[in-house]
Amino acid sequence: MEKILVLDFGGQYDQLIARRVRDLHVYAEIRPYNKITLQEIRETGYVGIIFTGGPNSVYNPASPHYDPEILNAGIPILGICYGCQLMAYMAGGTVCDAGESGEYGRTELIVSEPENPLFGGIPEKSICWMSHKDFISELQEGFRVTAVTDQCPTAAMCNAEKKLYGIQFHPEVTHSEYGQRVFSNFLYKICGCAGDYIVEDYTQQIIEKYRRELAGKKVLLALSGGVDSSVTAALLHAAIGDDLICVFVDHGLLRKGEGDLVEQTFKGRFGMNLIRVNAGGRFLAKLSGVLDPEAKRKIIGEEFIRVFEEEAKKIGHVNVLAQGTIYPDIIESGKGDSAVIKSHHNVGGLPDVISFDEIAEPLKDLFKDEVRKAGMALGLPYELVWRQPFPGPGLGVRVIGDITEEKLVILRDADAVFREEVDKLPQEKRPAQYFAVLTDTRSVGVMGDFRTYGYTVVLRAVDTDDFMSAEWSRLPYEVLERASSRITNEVPGISRVVYDVSSKPPATVEWL
Ligand code: XMP
Repeated sequence: MEKILVLDFGGQYDQLIARRVRDLHVYAEIRPYNKITLQEIRETGYVGIIFTGGPNSVYNPASPHYDPEILNAGIPILGICYGCQLMAYMAGGTVCDAGESGEYGRTELIVSEPENPLFGGIPEKSICWMSHKDFISELQEGFRVTAVTDQCPTAAMCNAEKKLYGIQFHPEVTHSEYGQRVFSNFLYKICGCAGDYIVEDYTQQIIEKYRRELAGKKVLLALSGGVDSSVTAALLHAAIGDDLICVFVDHGLLRKGEGDLVEQTFKGRFGMNLIRVNAGGRFLAKLSGVLDPEAKRKIIGEEFIRVFEEEAKKIGHVNVLAQGTIYPDIIESGKGDSAVIKSHHNVGGLPDVISFDEIAEPLKDLFKDEVRKAGMALGLPYELVWRQPFPGPGLGVRVIGDITEEKLVILRDADAVFREEVDKLPQEKRPAQYFAVLTDTRSVGVMGDFRTYGYTVVLRAVDTDDFMSAEWSRLPYEVLERASSRITNEVPGISRVVYDVSSKPPATVEWL
């Protein structure tokens, strides 16, 4: 398979760059600049390299640099922002500090060399997205300017003979009108790619790889019903069938119908070797009287591991423990020398207690959107593949105060009504996450001739791309009205519905 190297100099959007390239059917992998040698780059046979942006100044000796010989390796390179400046600097050009002024946000790009292969199909004037203070003031011989902006004398440059291209703007963000076209020109016109990466085909290759590697081995997977563990299960089942044992710990804190959907899908439809452990009573007993949110999370996490361990012990020795780790969980960062692997283990803590020989992480090369595509290709139901994020501790962090079965029933019903109403919106209008929270505040209501004194339920919906920050969703009033009316009519125990209009920050998405 053709491969592009995204050489990471500490940029904010590195993952976006790799995803854009993969969307164009070329496999891309991200490596920090200080974790891959030029020799390794040569040996891997990358068809092209992209230098990412980064927050530093190239003329500062402490900033990330790379062996300048990379420019003579005969591999096409596209430098973006810091990556462009670094390319110019390594070649002998000059990069300056613009002083107070910089160039940030939407900017008009003027292509001065329309016949340049990087700009094929891009009009002479278009909007690009800039974010820089330093600029390239002088180019070394062999390089020429190919685009400018009002402020920036070198918005793009190239040394066509050596297939070295640089752009000061960020083609990976959607604000750059022709950003995807820049990538496609680089990949297809400059690197000569054929475009052999198709997620569905790659999924088949992963299945075949694991069919070979796991032949005759017993594999254990903790299935939660979340997207990553569900796709891991479907993929490994396609590879090794009954040798995969899935343990689904139902902690009783799932949403309405969710546990049954998981069982029906994996045991019913796929015929998998699935053990469902209905441990709701056990979790509730442990949570009884616990009010502190962090204590709830800790108890749920620990109890989950305990239940899983007990099941695993009944199964006995397994050869392999499978995990739903995905690519963003293992990408090393190029931000400074302290780069660390963020190893995210869905079943943290297990390896010490359960006896197994190796770990399999079949999704470790895929981004979340690719995991979803693989899930659809493997025949998983839409509701599972496009499930909105749901916290591991489940409704345990959505019941404020003491958690009881009665409150869980109320919350499940109210949440189901709200989700049903929001789901009537076209998919592109639905928020990133929408759910109900049950408060421990009661208020007076009136139904018929009776006074009621029921719980207050909060409806929460947020728009966000990354969940680090989020805006409260401006849901249509009609949706809120129908949800409120249905909840108070259909869910006994609730007398008041409120809508949360807090963004993150200062609030968080969840209440607890
Ligand atoms: P917050 O509340 O931190 O939520 O703004 C951001 C995103 O993380 C999810 N979330 C969790 N997920 N375990 C999880 O697996 C947790 O304890 C947890 N707490 C919050 C939340 O649903 C949102 O998508």
